[in-house]
Amino acid sequence: MPPVIKIVHVSDTHVVAAPHTLYGLDPRDRLARAVADIALRHDDAALCVVTGDLAHWGERNAYAAFASVWAGCPLPTILMIGNHDDRESFKAVISPAMVDADGFVQGQRVLGDLTCLFLDTASPGSHAGAYCERRRAWLAQALAEAPGDVLIFMHHPPFAVGVPAMDAIALADAEAFASVVVPHRERIRHIFFGHLHRPISGSWRGIPFSCTRGLNHQLSLDGQLRIEGGEDVGDIVGSREPPGYNVALIAEDRIVVHAVAFLDHGSRFSLTAEETAGRSYALGMRVE
Ligand SMILES: [Fe+2]
Repeated sequence: MPPVIKIVHVSDTHVVAAPHTLYGLDPRDRLARAVADIALRHDDAALCVVTGDLAHWGERNAYAAFASVWAGCPLPTILMIGNHDDRESFKAVISPAMVDADGFVQGQRVLGDLTCLFLDTASPGSHAGAYCERRRAWLAQALAEAPGDVLIFMHHPPFAVGVPAMDAIALADAEAFASVVVPHRERIRHIFFGHLHRPISGSWRGIPFSCTRGLNHQLSLDGQLRIEGGEDVGDIVGSREPPGYNVALIAEDRIVVHAVAFLDHGSRFSLTAEETAGRSYALGMRVE
């Protein structure tokens, strides 16, 4: 049986240069804690992918701050860009940056029988994503040449998820994107993305997907959820819910995606011992 491949999925680190914080939180500290947790618990992973928004304002010193913290990650890593990133600053500081022949931060990597495709959906000057004709041509060729199953990693979701303020800044040319991807959906086993700063999963046009939490701030789910239309999208409402990253276990017959709340260091206890000791409530309040 082929080995299970583990991939760590981190997104939306939103690093700002010292001494600044962001929304009352310290993205550099959170990144350092995530890196330490990944190094401690997941050093057997084949790959770690950061699906964009590495820097909140896209400045070079923020990428330098990111890189100095990320140097502690023991895993092979793919760093991608999102709407908060600056493509040229990213390429100037991040080394080696993954860049295609047209200068976009995208590329591919083979893991066992899988081809992983990393897409650049950034659109300078816009928080919405774009996947232009040149990028679509790159993707069409990569999909045509991939010998087997495919995983896709991207920053923006190519569809609405029911949070109107975020759906307004999803991938703008989603139908054109779908026209390239959908013909290969039998081989595309999963789409991993960020941008939404929430744990979200489901399927789109028959392709399973997952989104991980951000590492700094989160998107609040307070308010109305609706998939279809409406002019009034409202504000994007942030929250300080705990951050997280995802771990995907990829086997021949399944992909399982686990959410990791790496800042939770609350006490651990044995559920098994509780079962064998008899009925109990809330850590020994009552044991028969
Ligand atoms: Fe973000």
